[in-house]
Amino acid sequence: MDAGTLWSLGDYAAAGDRWAEASTRIAEAYATPDLAVLDVACGPGSLAVAAAAAGAEVTGLDAAPALLELARARADAAGVGVEWIEADMTALPFPDDAFDLVASAFGCMFAPEPEAMAAELARVCRPGGRIAVLAWTSESAFGAMGPLAASYLPGAGGGAPVHRWARAESIREVFAGLPVELDAAVRTVDVVWSDLDQAMAEITEGNPAWIGIRATVEPTGRWPELESRLRRLLADHGRAEDRFTLPVDYLETVATKA
Ligand SMILES: C[S@@+](CC[C@H](N)C(=O)[O-])C[C@H]1O[C@@H](n2cnc3c(N)ncnc32)[C@H](O)[C@@H]1O
Repeated sequence: MDAGTLWSLGDYAAAGDRWAEASTRIAEAYATPDLAVLDVACGPGSLAVAAAAAGAEVTGLDAAPALLELARARADAAGVGVEWIEADMTALPFPDDAFDLVASAFGCMFAPEPEAMAAELARVCRPGGRIAVLAWTSESAFGAMGPLAASYLPGAGGGAPVHRWARAESIREVFAGLPVELDAAVRTVDVVWSDLDQAMAEITEGNPAWIGIRATVEPTGRWPELESRLRRLLADHGRAEDRFTLPVDYLETVATKA
């Protein structure tokens, strides 16, 4: 299944909106009026809409038509203009040096070839501009979910190497050879649900990646075991008080192009 079809399944935004603060922080920190901003793998558009609200000229690109439709509706509701483009992030349909800020929140980490993706981000960023990339750290609950799922997937091993975007050391390898100066820091976003049941339902029934995982694992008869291990993983990383709070660490990498 191609990325656009996969990510149009379910309801990514139901849970994705709960960590949108990580994206809007990037817009708040770096999007200023009249800056040309590209949100790569924009999904429902949290970063793009926040950057447009800050006065930037924004383009949001994603492969999933359903998410772009939602993003467009959200921009309209917020009264901001964003150009939405359905395309593959690994071959960005823009000339060299086209943007002042090239950002990707939990998106470009899904590229099959990280070095080629980083080169593409750098290509469309103007000299002196910034590239900002967010990826869940491997130790975080969200970072640990991928390897957990992979251990139940027949013939697993061909998935995107998302972990390469998730550590300060490996991100330097990903950008090695490109004319950029890197600054990487681990940050945390608190993802809050009413309870663990709601978290599980939104992830396993709404998250496109998990809908795909479930569809593959269910015929093997091992879904109940994977579901219960996922539940334990979330419970171990989270706090169940009046609500269920999952603090999730992510690496924020900001590359300045020479
Ligand atoms: C985890 S979501 C992140 C969405 C959004 N940036 C956010 O922070 O909520 C991953 C996004 O990557 C997009 N994506 C995955 N592979 C892609 C590709 N090859 N080209 C364009 N978009 C892609 C998906 O459609 C999805 O919107």
